[in-house]
Amino acid sequence: MFLLLMSSLVADAAERTSFNDDWRFHKGDIAGAKESDFGDSGWREVRLPHDWAIEGPFSTDYDARTGGLPVHGVAWYRKQFSIPESARGKSVMVEFDGAMANARVWLNGKEIGERPYGYISFTVDLSAGLNYGEEKNVLAVRLAPEDFSSRWYPGAGIYRNVWLEVRGAVHVTHWGTYITTPRVNEERAAVRVRTEVENTGEEGREVVLETVISDPAGRQVASTAIPLSISSQERKWVDQTLIVENPTRWDIDDPQLYTAVSRIRKEARTLDSYKTPFGIRTIEFDAKRGFLLNGRHRKLNGVCLHHDLGPLGAAVNRRATERQLEIMKAMGCNAIRTSHNPPSPEQLEFCDKLGLVVLDEAFDVWLIPKVENGYNKYFEEWHERDLRDMIRRDRNHPSVIMWSIGNEILEQGAEDGWEIAERLTAICHEEDPARPVTAGFNNPGGAISNGLADKIDIVGYNYWPSRYEQNLREHPGWIILGSETSSTVSSRGVYHLPIEKYAKHPSLQVTSYDIIGPSWSYPPDVEFHVQDELPQVLGEFVWTGFDYLGEPTPYGRQRDPKGYRNLDWPSRSSYFGIVDLCGFPKDRYYLYQSAWSDEPMVHILPHWNWEGKEGQEIPVFCYTNCDEAELFLNGESLGRKRRGAEPVPLPLGDGDFFGGEFRDGSQFQSKYRLMWKVPYAAGTLKAVAYKDGKPVCEKSQNTAGPPARITLSPDRDHIFADGEDLSFVTVRVEDDNGNLCPEAENLVRFTVTGYGEIAAVGNGNAATVEPFQADYRKAFNGLCMLIVRSKEDQNGGIHIRAESEGLRVAEITVITE
Ligand code: GAL
Repeated sequence: MFLLLMSSLVADAAERTSFNDDWRFHKGDIAGAKESDFGDSGWREVRLPHDWAIEGPFSTDYDARTGGLPVHGVAWYRKQFSIPESARGKSVMVEFDGAMANARVWLNGKEIGERPYGYISFTVDLSAGLNYGEEKNVLAVRLAPEDFSSRWYPGAGIYRNVWLEVRGAVHVTHWGTYITTPRVNEERAAVRVRTEVENTGEEGREVVLETVISDPAGRQVASTAIPLSISSQERKWVDQTLIVENPTRWDIDDPQLYTAVSRIRKEARTLDSYKTPFGIRTIEFDAKRGFLLNGRHRKLNGVCLHHDLGPLGAAVNRRATERQLEIMKAMGCNAIRTSHNPPSPEQLEFCDKLGLVVLDEAFDVWLIPKVENGYNKYFEEWHERDLRDMIRRDRNHPSVIMWSIGNEILEQGAEDGWEIAERLTAICHEEDPARPVTAGFNNPGGAISNGLADKIDIVGYNYWPSRYEQNLREHPGWIILGSETSSTVSSRGVYHLPIEKYAKHPSLQVTSYDIIGPSWSYPPDVEFHVQDELPQVLGEFVWTGFDYLGEPTPYGRQRDPKGYRNLDWPSRSSYFGIVDLCGFPKDRYYLYQSAWSDEPMVHILPHWNWEGKEGQEIPVFCYTNCDEAELFLNGESLGRKRRGAEPVPLPLGDGDFFGGEFRDGSQFQSKYRLMWKVPYAAGTLKAVAYKDGKPVCEKSQNTAGPPARITLSPDRDHIFADGEDLSFVTVRVEDDNGNLCPEAENLVRFTVTGYGEIAAVGNGNAATVEPFQADYRKAFNGLCMLIVRSKEDQNGGIHIRAESEGLRVAEITVITE
């Protein structure tokens, strides 16, 4: 079957096919595993992408900053495959979208490549050492991620997709197109397509390079062709400009994509063809006007995202990636920062499709280390290659609007820090003159005084809204950005009363009143205020959109004699997310929505189950984007409040807004949130929001009765039967009337039968060591999640049954087709 597929593939001149199937995996180092005749039949079969660390178990033996999971050690992957005779003389490559980390690759016992950086995509050329026809080939990959190599959960394994590329001897090189739209107006767009063509054959060739552009509907709208004479072993760039009439712009609200197909032809024969999706759009960055997309001012309402996919770990999954971005977009988010490393290609693909602009970041460290075994060890030798490769891979995405050469790099404080910045910026400009370069400074004073800030195009401030105005005054030409903001922490559904007076509550959870953060941080409201006052600041990237594995600040930060290990165990993942690890919104989601979206909304917190506190005052916050809100308790009005009436609680700028000290909740009334103090009585708390005096939306919190039943709600009830697609099933513990039981922690057991399987479970609790790969999960504040995956080519239903002692059972079917 595979041979058949391969031969049809090679006959078509150029193909890129998945190389994810039929790998064998062994955890631990093993002598001889690189040899083709090594016996791997006892190894585990795996399908890539694969993250061995997410399989667990959690343990206090592992660094809490990297999630308390086994992210380090040596492991091997091997794959047997054959390549048809017809591929002889062609260029055959394998592309790894990312392998964590320190990858070395052998083909039939001979080493053909290595790559230390786990986040970078790289290729290995197989052409020289292949067996063709019936004879087998073996690709062996050894990974060796090190302990203390990351400040967050990196994952471990071949955790991104792998591709086999077979191309004619004369072909477009890997990432060998570069498309820009230098002139765009209503009537026409000039599309400049640069194409790198290579001849790996024995003889020189006379060919034609034809470039065809199709519009978003797939209609061919422009084409051009140029004859080309290319010698054996030659590479050359070809420059073509095509005119597209009446272009449809790529925009945040309407992300329209064009496609360019580059074909290398010899008379009627196509020797190679290469597809590049792209967008027609203009970007401008201006010290006075801020960011303009297609000539229109847009504030960047952005979030930082780490690369993991929560309970699924770092293993890339298309649907999980798309879902993360959909959840962010529905909040009013329009920008993503790929903190602090090159993203998966899928993440950019979905940003293109959904209309999210991207700050594409290369490094978290240069030469001065942040952890013992960080990328700093490889920086000198690899940074240029890694940076160039990231830009070549990503520069055709319309979503990408700027490059970041570093996050909080410690060279900010070094006298010669500017030198590396200058070098990296020059590389970015060389590879892509069409986008500016930025970096995130947590020590802007240092970066300004040592000249580093002068070497980049956009100055990014991490946690310094207090300096925006001063810097605009002192450096009137500078374009500035809140490259990392807020860092508020909270646990979904947790409300401690009275609100804790310290950042570290003994429950290992943080209140969701959205007022707690580490010493360098500040609540979202502060950034909203400053951004509103200063339209020329490009916008902000909140730390973070999603909770991520590792970095469980404010817990688990102390160093014990073994390293950064597990004080405050089992706290093991972040509290920074606007949504939790499962993607369930925390209250903060609605605070951002109230600032970033126009669709009328209102939200109230906390839940309304406070038995034993009858008559005591409960602080109630209301987040709305409407003019006013009115609060009702059991039908009785507690008065209307106007949004914007309160001043924002400053002080700003001493870098110590919270300082671990809680200030009385009333001080957190702000321009952006309304507050009531409500004497508790069970029943219904309701907020009604008004626009122009008219009620436009409302939200209630009912006092829930005891847990009575489970409900299951899939995010999609029809999924593809491709062995990869997922349905995310929300599991709710409800009372008899359908109210969420806000403190329920019932243990739910799942039975999944039919044409699917359990991919993972989770509940958003940052302080639990229950496994992610299991058929059970405790609810956390009433909710947990079951993620099911389809089986390949099996149409039918995935039957899901959820049961829990004392609760009514729930059953649903997700269709696979
Ligand atoms: C920043 C850093 C992030 C994360 C964050 C937590 O200083 O850039 O990676 O550690 O702090 O607040």
